[in-house]
Amino acid sequence: MKIPLVDLKAQHDSIKSEIDNAIRSVIESTQFILGPVVEAFESEMAAYCQTKFATGVASGTDALQLALLASNIQPGDEVITTPFTFIATAEAITQCGAVPVFVDIDPRTYNIDPTKIEIRITERTKAILPVHLYGQPVDMDPILQLAKNYNLKVIEDCAQALGTKYKGKKTGSLGDAGCLSFFPSKVLGAYGDGGMVVTNDPEIAEKVAMLRNHGCRQKYYHLMPGFNSRLDELQAAILRVKLKHLNDWIELRRHKASFYSQLFNQIDGIQPPYVAPDSYHIFNYYTIRLEKSKSNRDKTQEYLHAQGIATAIYYPLSLHLQQVYKSLGYKPGDFPESEQAHEEVLSLPMYPELGDDKIEAIARAIKSSGLRSQ
Ligand SMILES: Cc1ncc(COP(=O)(O)O)c(C=O)c1O
Repeated sequence: MKIPLVDLKAQHDSIKSEIDNAIRSVIESTQFILGPVVEAFESEMAAYCQTKFATGVASGTDALQLALLASNIQPGDEVITTPFTFIATAEAITQCGAVPVFVDIDPRTYNIDPTKIEIRITERTKAILPVHLYGQPVDMDPILQLAKNYNLKVIEDCAQALGTKYKGKKTGSLGDAGCLSFFPSKVLGAYGDGGMVVTNDPEIAEKVAMLRNHGCRQKYYHLMPGFNSRLDELQAAILRVKLKHLNDWIELRRHKASFYSQLFNQIDGIQPPYVAPDSYHIFNYYTIRLEKSKSNRDKTQEYLHAQGIATAIYYPLSLHLQQVYKSLGYKPGDFPESEQAHEEVLSLPMYPELGDDKIEAIARAIKSSGLRSQ
């Protein structure tokens, strides 16, 4: 039996005729860039994310960079974030000329530990960039309080957390801006790249709208240096179709996750994902922790691959130890929780169409791989 990490084909098959119609209608309109479909999708997404504004851009990475620029992050400013994330989070900071300042994670949620942030705030700190990793919300209240006390912006990386809720509120609506990714493997995946900035701040929304389109409000009149970073009409048409199914898909993911966790609770040495109180986790990824060692995790992964079960390590190396950030001067041991988590996490197949029989087979395989490595 082959079990993929995500099954985009199964999802496409379930909505094929709706997608075909949506694509055909854009092609027949011949309006491909910044037209009525993007506009309609933006207002649907603002409503979905409980924000006043939503602006489509070319990727989640661009969403982060444009949101930071629109929040007046300047060269030399410091932005506090987590080292346990995809490179795009820190890359967006660096591409603004600002400096990522890392803070270790809470080992239960893998998200930035709010109790360790204040000590890293300096006169140059201008923003905090929490990442709602795997679909679990960051503990935002203490971060929002710190931001208030020190007059900092909060830009949420919601690339893995569309639909996630913290204390009943959607992530992306909690800070100054939220950044979404429509990378195909995300809960709302485009058929290519795409991203979005959601915000309640009219100034940030307007700046992002200008930045994504060469810095202009009116065509050919440029007010600031900008980018070509637009979400196109074809992607917006596809995403509008998928948005209608999103809540159902998220509920299915949550059901799969609780079935997995029920099985893993009976296997020694496997930590299923912890879900914090007040969290509505959307399980963009279902990530377990293999408690013993990196070699145990790696052997389990090899064993599963040999059985036809795809897995992934999000992510193998903490950002503070990446070659690209060597000049920042971090060293092994600086963020022990993050470093240990990188050695022990393993993400398993997760998609709304994943059958319970497959989940049982995966749990069985993990159980036997554990026995094998002892
Ligand atoms: C946490 C995180 N931030 C940012 C991004 C960047 O999004 P994109 O791939 O759409 O540029 C991703 C997605 O890959 C992500 O997982």
